[in-house]
Amino acid sequence: MNMMKLEVRADGVAVLWIDVPGRTMNVLSTELCAELDEVLARIKSDAAIRGLVVASAKNAFVAGFDLLEVLKLAAQGLSLRQAAALSAAISLPFRHLETCGKPVAAAIQGPALGGGFELALACHWRVMADDPKTIVGLPEVRVGLLPGAGGTQRLPRMIGVAKALDLLLDGSHVGARRALELRLVDELAPREQIVERAAAWVRERGVAIQPWDQKGFRIPGGAGQLEPAIHALFAGRVGRVAKATLRNFPAPPAILAAVADGSVLPIDKALAVESKYFATLLTHPVARNLTRTMFVGKGEADKLARRPPNVPKAVVTRVGVLGAGMMGSGIAYCAARAGMTVVLVDSTLDQAEKGKDYSRRLLAKEVERGASTREAADAVLERIVTSVGYEQLRGCELVIEAVFEDRKIKAEVTRAAEAAMLKSGVFASNTSTLPITGLAENSSRPDRFIGLHFFSPVDRMGLVEVIVGKRTSKATIAHALDFVGQLRKTPIVVNDSRGFYTSRVFGFYCHEGMRLLEEGVAPALIENAGRMAGMPVGPLAVSDEVSIELLWKVIHQGEVDLGDKYVKPAGYEVVRRFVHELDRGGRKFGRGFYDYPEGGRKRLWAGLAKLYPVRAEQPSLEEVKDRLLYVQAMETVRCLDEGVLTHPADGDLGSILGWGFPTWTGGTLSLVETVGLPRFVKECDRLAKQHGDRYRPTRKLRKLAADGKTLYGA
Ligand code: NAI
Repeated sequence: MNMMKLEVRADGVAVLWIDVPGRTMNVLSTELCAELDEVLARIKSDAAIRGLVVASAKNAFVAGFDLLEVLKLAAQGLSLRQAAALSAAISLPFRHLETCGKPVAAAIQGPALGGGFELALACHWRVMADDPKTIVGLPEVRVGLLPGAGGTQRLPRMIGVAKALDLLLDGSHVGARRALELRLVDELAPREQIVERAAAWVRERGVAIQPWDQKGFRIPGGAGQLEPAIHALFAGRVGRVAKATLRNFPAPPAILAAVADGSVLPIDKALAVESKYFATLLTHPVARNLTRTMFVGKGEADKLARRPPNVPKAVVTRVGVLGAGMMGSGIAYCAARAGMTVVLVDSTLDQAEKGKDYSRRLLAKEVERGASTREAADAVLERIVTSVGYEQLRGCELVIEAVFEDRKIKAEVTRAAEAAMLKSGVFASNTSTLPITGLAENSSRPDRFIGLHFFSPVDRMGLVEVIVGKRTSKATIAHALDFVGQLRKTPIVVNDSRGFYTSRVFGFYCHEGMRLLEEGVAPALIENAGRMAGMPVGPLAVSDEVSIELLWKVIHQGEVDLGDKYVKPAGYEVVRRFVHELDRGGRKFGRGFYDYPEGGRKRLWAGLAKLYPVRAEQPSLEEVKDRLLYVQAMETVRCLDEGVLTHPADGDLGSILGWGFPTWTGGTLSLVETVGLPRFVKECDRLAKQHGDRYRPTRKLRKLAADGKTLYGA
């Protein structure tokens, strides 16, 4: 045995210490479950053992199934049968545990999540450490799965169908007090006493049979569609799930079905039903997508996976922020919260103070909510120094400029700041549209010039797009990433390009919406298709939000910079017309594709019907959804081909965290893999023929598709 040790005590209570080697936390695997089965055989046959305590030798009980293993399995292209067998390989040993004929208690400390909590549910008694670090829950739904080791069956049998569905569908975890209230656990104890208390239960009160294995057992609150309350409950949940998932996520409906079907069956049959539903999810691309991008990819990015090696770690203690507008004030707040001293510079002290007011407001709210103390909030505020001149930048290891989007002003502030800041420091621009290599020409040390593209609102958006200019050095990339790490934000690293990665691809969403409008597709269909595909807002609404005027500025900048080489985006004419003929620049102007009546809800502008008469024949909802998503995916493929993106994971993560590309897809590139490369290429060829070159697959993509390869594999 490699992952657990059995300690048999003099009083006949055995303690099974789980201790997965090489891991800071215990994770569940098929290997661990196989060992559990082995040790159970001994426990059953050894007359000296009267009962068992399952405990962890680490700070965490069991943190869940190993997601890397999930990813590996998903990548192997398991059959349904293989996937169901895998679920059974975990589920059956747990069943053997609860039917071993001896009382079993779990001693839970630290996270007991997913398969880890399912292990605890298979014990006859649960003692939970009463401290903030100890949590229990079944988060599988968040990675597109369901608890496949008894969770969907034991939980309803313990706490009733309604409460179980709440936990299963939401996937959130609960702390000790709440867990006891919900009867997810039986007893709380100080962490250092949990094993002894569990042992005492085994010795003095141990019962070796689960309620659901006893004759006449009934699920609390009832089960089965013939019970009117249960029927109504499921009817309500089915509607709610359909509305929340827009049919893009398969796990919530599968959870409903597993509970509905399983709760009327004897437990062994119910577990088999659960395994069947689990298998449909494990073989579904959405599980792979969510696991790969939102957990593995994000986890790696947070650990600064793209940081060039062999560069000593930098710690920013003093950072300059130039421009105390919307972005600068948000960046200042985040840096001060992360413990840095911030010098916030604007053209007047009044402006700089206004920028600091932003932090004052946010911190006051935190104190009100109890998320921070007055003293801590004051300390954060004290770290923000407002200034007009540049002398205060002395000693800054990093300066970020967030002044107006104007090359001349940016050039001036770059020179002035570089003269004052640390000679070895890094200068970063938060520009959203101006190529970094060009801006670096104003720098006296372009190797230490980089783009740090934050998203609005900075305090809530976790992504930072790090933009590498032609002359940016490795050490500068490393230091910029160290800073993003200090802010606890998630970086992606991209090479310089017009619009970088996120703005460039996001623009295609807006423009495709406008092109559809121009083609005579009903505006409501366009907007609904965007939302039904999983985008947070429709393309016309979001164009209004970022402002049609800004879209025009980006076009104009491109025309000025590139001349004849400029390729007009799909919505060019619509943007031009709205800004120059109609004076409808977007939400901040009070009118765009929508009207914004004072005090009322926005509504699509009635004038659209006259400008762009709705064609008699409309495309299907699916066709419009595909167009809106595929055009973004295809442009991301181009970014990968051009080397703007160096890793598919950055493209995926950036699309989801940057502009809200739907999570079920796993991101713009995972979408291509979800559709399947050959089919995606074929569809895009068709769309290119009908609608233009923006859909045309690249040579590299064609080759990957023909060779049966994937983007991640390549
Ligand atoms: P803003 O207009 O809210 O703020 C700009 C601030 O810079 C103003 O407070 C202004 O007084 C100050 N400023 C102008 N010239 C200055 C100078 N010479 N010295 C010191 N301060 C000066 O603009 P916003 O939205 O904060 O944008 C700033 C930068 O961030 C721009 O480059 C923009 O493209 C970029 N950006 C904007 C995003 C957004 O969502 N608004 C997102 C990402 C980047």
